[in-house]
Amino acid sequence: MPNSPQKLIVFNHPLIEHKMCALRNKDTGHRPFRGTLSQIAGLMVYEVTRTFKTKPVEIETPIMKTTGQRIEDPITIVPVLRAGLGMIDGILHIMPEARVGHLGLARDEETLEPVVYLNKLPKDLNAGPVILVDPMLATGGSASAAITILREAGATDIRMICLVAAPEGVERLHRDHPEITIYAATLDEKLNDKGYILPGLGDAGDRMYGTV
Ligand code: PRP
Ligand code: URA
Repeated sequence: MPNSPQKLIVFNHPLIEHKMCALRNKDTGHRPFRGTLSQIAGLMVYEVTRTFKTKPVEIETPIMKTTGQRIEDPITIVPVLRAGLGMIDGILHIMPEARVGHLGLARDEETLEPVVYLNKLPKDLNAGPVILVDPMLATGGSASAAITILREAGATDIRMICLVAAPEGVERLHRDHPEITIYAATLDEKLNDKGYILPGLGDAGDRMYGTV
């Protein structure tokens, strides 16, 4: 991950790249699409949690006493509906104790501006790290609005996981929320004139739920 000192970490990992081929392929149906997306999200958790704070804890093994490190602060995962929901199972598989808040945002097809239709978050978002989850970072409008909502709700430690990031979206997030680290499975080329990521994988929500 050569760009890790910055606020963008692109995985470019062989296993993730391999699985991304299935997501990008237009002939992949909604069931394998959902399964693969969830698997990639699970793989990404390992790196996204690397900077989580731990506290020492005394443990007695069958042989002797030792000190382990535990994550004490509550972790909150916040998927952006609909498409972010498809990453939740993979993440919870690895971190079953995490809480899940929900943000419903839909991009207006004309203006490309996000419209909020659901906001259900834990009250003490400031108690621990918050991971914003959305497979697509296109113009960055949805992610930027979601981070503003999380901040207003009290979150202080936020990072974002996406599968496909467009340079335009990364730039927008870096401008609007310079403190946020973005973890992207892959960084694509650019947006088309309808705000779709190129080469991308199409409309993630539609492909995931078979509403194409
Ligand atoms: C998609 C995607 C992001 C957003 C990204 O959602 O899941 O939330 O677009 O685009 P942006 O970076 O330009 O804001 P969409 O609005 O299509 O809703 P859906 O998940 O319900 O299909
Ligand atoms: N949202 C998607 O689902 N796909 C894109 O390419 C851009 C926004």
